[in-house]
Amino acid sequence: MNYNNLLIDRKENYAIVTVNRPSKLNALNKETISELHDAFFSLEKDKQIKAIIITGSGEKAFVAGADISEFADFNESEGAELARSGQELLFDFIQNLSTPVIAAVNGFALGGGLELAMASHFRVASLNAKMGLPEVSLGVIPGYGGTQRLPQLVGKGKAMEMIMTAGMISAVEAKEWGLVNYVVELDELLSLCEKLASKIVWNSSTSIAAVIKSVNANFETGVNGFNVEIEQFGKAFGTHDFKEGTTAFLEKRKPNFE
Ligand code: COA
Repeated sequence: MNYNNLLIDRKENYAIVTVNRPSKLNALNKETISELHDAFFSLEKDKQIKAIIITGSGEKAFVAGADISEFADFNESEGAELARSGQELLFDFIQNLSTPVIAAVNGFALGGGLELAMASHFRVASLNAKMGLPEVSLGVIPGYGGTQRLPQLVGKGKAMEMIMTAGMISAVEAKEWGLVNYVVELDELLSLCEKLASKIVWNSSTSIAAVIKSVNANFETGVNGFNVEIEQFGKAFGTHDFKEGTTAFLEKRKPNFE
């Protein structure tokens, strides 16, 4: 996989995707969004890859937002299309990916950058990271799911404050708010994410995919998440991994999942 704006570091059973436009603080232009879609699509198909870490290149930014230079002269319908296609290709796509995605937030995560981290399944930040949704300071609003996912993660009041003030919060505040799970020094960020990925990869990928579906169902309008859980729980009983996991337990050995 060769990309103009991404680096892919494929380890034995997980991969690190790095957005690599450091001179633009890794801002998401159209090409980067399309490459990210392509990379996540391919990695999800790759059965050896059981977890994905996404991060930004350099020590300053995770992703400093959507590329403002690309949409500055858009009209209403082009604006709507930008949000619709971005959500479909990248943000919803990652949220619903069956392979777990961990965001390693290594610096500024602003606008589309924070939205990318929020679309990931969970987040870890370095101490230097700063997070915010500054769109209203540009006369626009978050368009890649920020108005929906931020309240889900931090509650309505904090989300309203963060979006209305267009302010940035520190990594430590983000942890207090529940936006990130851990805060570590920058030079420990990837190793912690890799440690978390290494724990995930030993578990059943089939079960983890079912967990992602079930947890996401909690946030879908008109969907009864409990019913989705029941359905996914039942389906698990028909899988190789269930037979292997339970047999391995009874035989007092480590399971060998698919
Ligand atoms: N879109 C396009 N280019 C961006 C960008 C974005 N979202 N964020 C940063 N860049 C570019 C800058 O234009 C600059 O490019 P240049 O060197 O060709 O002029 C380069 O990245 C470095 O950014 P700069 O602003 O010089 O760095 P800084 O340390 O002074 O400030 C930020 C860092 C993150 C505070 C500042 O870049 C910023 O506010 N970015 C926009 C954040 C934003 O509003 N995102 C939401 C978009 S909807």
